[in-house]
Amino acid sequence: MYKITTLPGDGIGPEVIAGAVQVLNAVRERTGIEFAITEAPFGGNAYDQTGTPLPEATLRQCLASNAVLMGAVGGPKWDNLPVHLRPEVGALLPLRKKLAVFANIRPSMVFSSLVDASTLKREVVEGLDLVVIRELTGGLYFGEKRREQLPQGGFRVIETLEYSTEEIERVARFAFELARKRSGRLTSVDKANVLESSRLWREVVSGLAAEYPDVELSHILVDNCAMQLVRYPKQFDVMLTENMFGDILSDQASQLTGSIGMLPSASLGGQVGLYEPIHGSAPDIAGQNIANPIATIMSVAMMLRYSLDSEEGAALVERAVSSVLGEGYRTIDIMQPGMTQLGTSEMSRLIAQRVSEAGTTA
Ligand code: NAD
Ligand code: IPM
Ligand code: MN
Repeated sequence: MYKITTLPGDGIGPEVIAGAVQVLNAVRERTGIEFAITEAPFGGNAYDQTGTPLPEATLRQCLASNAVLMGAVGGPKWDNLPVHLRPEVGALLPLRKKLAVFANIRPSMVFSSLVDASTLKREVVEGLDLVVIRELTGGLYFGEKRREQLPQGGFRVIETLEYSTEEIERVARFAFELARKRSGRLTSVDKANVLESSRLWREVVSGLAAEYPDVELSHILVDNCAMQLVRYPKQFDVMLTENMFGDILSDQASQLTGSIGMLPSASLGGQVGLYEPIHGSAPDIAGQNIANPIATIMSVAMMLRYSLDSEEGAALVERAVSSVLGEGYRTIDIMQPGMTQLGTSEMSRLIAQRVSEAGTTA
């Protein structure tokens, strides 16, 4: 019996998690896979209830699970709290660190029925299928942070970016292995013309290349990479980068698919897998039942594949999403002329229904 912890979080988090849980329950009925789902407070709502965004009991429960499915955290209500109590820094980053999930997989795949939903031209995005591997537990996010008052007034901040050979090597191996299973192409993204951390990054990644002779490794500077991602994104297959660059480039890559509401993620490397959409709590649309639940539902597919050993369940979910999109159903962020607009809960219900029906009709 697998144990799944859900952390709905804040803003649209609870709306998209509710949809994802419906889909999971449909997968259970269809495949007979056994799991128990337990929800836990996390983020701004946990701070409101308990005074901390990451309650001890929540952390303990996550560590004792096979997989954690998270919605999103944060929002204007908590933006002015002392930094260690903010949902992002006080809950999400420590959770990733404690789960030791150093490899964050963010696939950017364009569904054929959505080629015209992107703001980019059809020929630029059609058939696009790339994966960003983002280092998730190091770099600027976790370095020392300090603010000093200056005698002449004003402040000085110190924010450090640290990476060790070992931290780079383990995520790079992950990327080489994935590239080997896909097209055999790996692009490492850095800023080696300026940053010492990037020079070590490039050295370590290049040093591994001999062990993966079947993988064609190339390096690109991050500014050029950002430009190439909108100029000709199909040149990329597996992309490997450090924490901060990966955060930015994956939001950019998401828009190639039509919407940030489409992009799932899996964070691996520790005992417990963490699954979350790449988007945030979207305070601007929260509570309106209009958020796209597909990023979270596709995160469920990744959870089934990587933590619950159910390729069958993962494929059921992916086919259900593809089928609903193919039938012309859309949330507002990917709405196109002539299509049928659905809310978050209606879209989730329909995907769950397609999972339930799979294989039962010709
Ligand atoms: P965001 O991703 O929440 O939203 C960016 C834009 O995309 C908004 O216009 C939003 O409406 C839209 N959007 C996001 N998800 C969508 C979905 N599923 N369907 C349709 N539209 C969607 O980023 P932001 O506005 O910069 O951040 C809002 C808050 O979320 C901040 O507090 C931030 O710190 C937090 N955040 C949390 C996470 C996380 O928990 N993993 C990730 C990113 C941002
Ligand atoms: C993401 C988010 C987080 C990040 C924030 C909320 C800490 O933007 O998951 O992409 O930067 O990792
Ligand atoms: Mn982000």
